[in-house]
Amino acid sequence: MTDRSCLCVILAAGEGTRMRSERPKMLHAIGGLPMAGHVVLAAQQAGCDIAMVTGHGGDEVDAAMRPLAPKAEFFRQHDRLGTAHAVLMAREAIARGYDDLLVVFGDATLIEPSVLRSARGGLAAGADVVIVGFRTPEPTGYGRLIEKDGRIVAIREERDCTDEERLITYCNGGLTAISGARALELLDRIGNDNAKREFYLTDIVEIAHAEGLVVVATEAPFESVLGVNNRAELAAAERIWQQRRRRAMMLSGVTLVDPETVHFSHDTEIGPDTHVEPNVVFGPGVRIAGGVTIRAFSHLAGTSIAEGAEIGPFARLRPGAKLGESVKVGNFCEVKNADVASGAKINHLTYVGDAVIGSRANLGAGTITCNYDGFGKHLTQIGAGAFVGSNSSLVAPVKIGAGAYVASGSTITDNVPDDALAFGRARQETKEGRAKVLRDRLSGAKAKAG
Ligand code: UD1
Ligand code: CA
Repeated sequence: MTDRSCLCVILAAGEGTRMRSERPKMLHAIGGLPMAGHVVLAAQQAGCDIAMVTGHGGDEVDAAMRPLAPKAEFFRQHDRLGTAHAVLMAREAIARGYDDLLVVFGDATLIEPSVLRSARGGLAAGADVVIVGFRTPEPTGYGRLIEKDGRIVAIREERDCTDEERLITYCNGGLTAISGARALELLDRIGNDNAKREFYLTDIVEIAHAEGLVVVATEAPFESVLGVNNRAELAAAERIWQQRRRRAMMLSGVTLVDPETVHFSHDTEIGPDTHVEPNVVFGPGVRIAGGVTIRAFSHLAGTSIAEGAEIGPFARLRPGAKLGESVKVGNFCEVKNADVASGAKINHLTYVGDAVIGSRANLGAGTITCNYDGFGKHLTQIGAGAFVGSNSSLVAPVKIGAGAYVASGSTITDNVPDDALAFGRARQETKEGRAKVLRDRLSGAKAKAG
């Protein structure tokens, strides 16, 4: 089967009216990746060339898909006249003559490469058309597979079903496989004589059957082929996708103490023996080495973390945070666009933004890098082994040298050389007995007023 050529046409032109959104439906994300992107990745993994058909919001959708599939061809469907019409927009690619043609709906976002491969297997075994079906107790909205004498003879869209047909729970998923040699001839014969006056790809079944061709249905789990049409289905798909990803993470050696509460992005990478406590969110662009601990209620995005680091609880790591080996970022700390070298400690209530922190530096509770002056962002540099006392404001651009010591409560506006001690606060004055004098005076005044 592997030497058979395959074109996968991904249909992503629809308006997605049911999403009720300004944003093109295909750009609504699952695991942070636009839904059509998941289909693109699955098609690539199944060894297919890709033809994308876009229309509504086409420029935006194309731009989002190109980086995922640099070799894909893009076709535009200007008038949305139905799924068969959409496939034919890629006529030029289909006409090149592939052994297998797969048509996948861009909203079948959970489709797995294994399902694509098994549909191709059906063609390799001699079928002319393979429909991937699924069973659901709630078939509303899906096309129904009409069987006769154990064979599939038609797919009927919900609107065109008789009352009896509407009770059928065997439905059409988002994937049709067609013998490449027959594809154009069959597709060209599809008409639009139905309730929506659309050219339905699904009519290919009836046409092929009438020709005496071999049409077979293979069954896939609902989780693999569910179509996302509205936000409730989007959330259902997200849930299934997260479950899959959590399982894959755990099987690859990551401990998730309470998997249901941990959310991943499509590109999250975590090494083995990393330990993730409950209620952690991984936004896009997170790479974590092995042996890291991520404590509860942390939120990470655009971050890389080296071995042995400990993060959280309640840590916020924003894009550009790069944490070296055994770095600690503790509770209620935020780190953004900062290189933090090995062994540095940022343990309590601290903001580090636009900074370079040397190895083993220690930032006390409440340290703030004042990186923004209302116009531009500025850099704070802290040398190796420096110690910043609690509640210090480091007004950037500013440099604290290696081994330097900043006294607690300082506002540092000037550079501090290596090994220097800097105070940036008013000197304390203590007045013996004056508290009592003050108290007597204030309580006397109160008694008079009362
Ligand atoms: C479609 C199927 C239905 C199946 C269901 C599975 C048809 C006629 N119906 O219904 O049998 O059970 O998917 O989820 O095929 N699109 C275009 N151009 C168009 C129309 C649609 O590119 O002119 C794209 C859409 O962007 C979408 C896909 O084709 O990705 C399917 O269209 P959609 O409107 O979602 O079809 P369903 O009503 O869900
Ligand atoms: Ca759909």
